Parts: sequence; structure tokens; C-alpha cells
Amino acid sequence: MKFFADTAEIDEIRELADTGLLDGVTTNPSLIHKSGRNFLEVVREIAGVVAGPVSAEVVALDHEGMMREAEVLRKLGDNIAIKVPLTPAGLKTCKALTGDGSMVNVTLCFSAAQALLAAKAGATFISPFVGRHDDVGFDGMSLIADIRLIYDNYDFDTQILVASVRHPMHVVESAKIGADVMTAPPKIIWQLFKHPLTDSGIAGFLKDWEQTGQKIV
Ligand code: E4P
Repeated sequence: MKFFADTAEIDEIRELADTGLLDGVTTNPSLIHKSGRNFLEVVREIAGVVAGPVSAEVVALDHEGMMREAEVLRKLGDNIAIKVPLTPAGLKTCKALTGDGSMVNVTLCFSAAQALLAAKAGATFISPFVGRHDDVGFDGMSLIADIRLIYDNYDFDTQILVASVRHPMHVVESAKIGADVMTAPPKIIWQLFKHPLTDSGIAGFLKDWEQTGQKIV
């Protein structure tokens, strides 16, 4: 499963990229606002740090406007994935852009029916939001399982990008279902490394090693 960081904070992206485990980045207008940075500048910078796909979202709601914005965004790097909302205009834009060789991430997906439409529109990625789904009393992970089943039934190439990830179990459940990608805030990706028995195990080994009085180098 590929790991994307859901952030526009360049320092956090660099830190994660240093682990060698980061496969891409997703941004959205709220994350850009939080970063306090200029949208085009920060996305260009991120696209230079990460080799994998970097999602940059259009804000126009009509097809022509989305196409004009996508034209600007895709010039920011060879690895830009244009993010469009799951609306009729968004899917029309998706079809036009993917037909032209661009990567497209269809965002704000909350149903299996919407995911089916995005795959038919040739989306590179579909982003179902599991956390926001859970927030309103639905089971976000069962949506991922439904989409996996449907995409496998028809051999759709669209990659399932699990979004709105709130905790490590969302990541584990996504992997069990066979999602292709998950995007999470850096804090959650770092949490995946943690286990108290790893920490206490290291402490125990180091204590015993000191007793040997030896050095490796
Ligand atoms: C995905 O691409 C979105 O940017 C993101 O995962 C939304 O997450 P949120 O529900 O925590 O805002």
C-alpha cells in the first residue's frame, strides 16, 4: 500500500520523505489555508521534494473553470495529480484530463455509487473520506470494502486512495481490505511506528549491553 502525506507543511513532508517511506502528498484548500503559504508556490515546492503524485485541488465548480485551473496546476510539476470534486462537472473534467495523460484524483467521495462513476470517468485515484463518514455515523471502512469489490469485479484501474484517515487502525483496516493508497496527516504516519513494547525492548537491550562493557565501533 502506498503512503501519501495529507498536508501542505513542507518541513513535515521533508521529514517523512527522509524515511524513504513516503510515496506522495495530498493537499486541499483547507490545508493550504492552514499552511499560510501561496498555493502555487507551496505545491511547486512539494512536487520538487516528493517524486510521487502530489494532489492539487481546483476550486472552480464549472467544467471550463476547472480546465483552466488544471492547466495552471499541471505546470507545477510532472508529478501533479489534479484533484476534482465528485460532481458532474468534476467527472467531465476528470475524463478530459485523464484522456490527455494527466493524473486525476477525484475527491469528496462518500458512496460506492460515486466511486463507480469516478472509475468510469477514468480517475487515476478515488478518494473516499473514511473519517468524515465515521463522524456522521456511517462505517467508513465498509465503504472502502464495497469500492474494492466493485473495482475488482470490473478490473477498474482506478486506485482507491483512503482519505480523511484519523488513526492507525484506519490504515491497518485499509491495508486488510486491499486499498491501493492511504493519505494521512504526518502525525498519524509517525504513530504507525510506535509500540510500547518496542520502546521497552530497546531500553532493556541497551541496559544489558552496557553491562557487557563492549562497543561495536
Ligand atoms: C484528502 O485528500 C483530504 O485532503 C483529506 O484526507 C481530508 O481529511 P479531513 O477529513 O481530515 O479534512
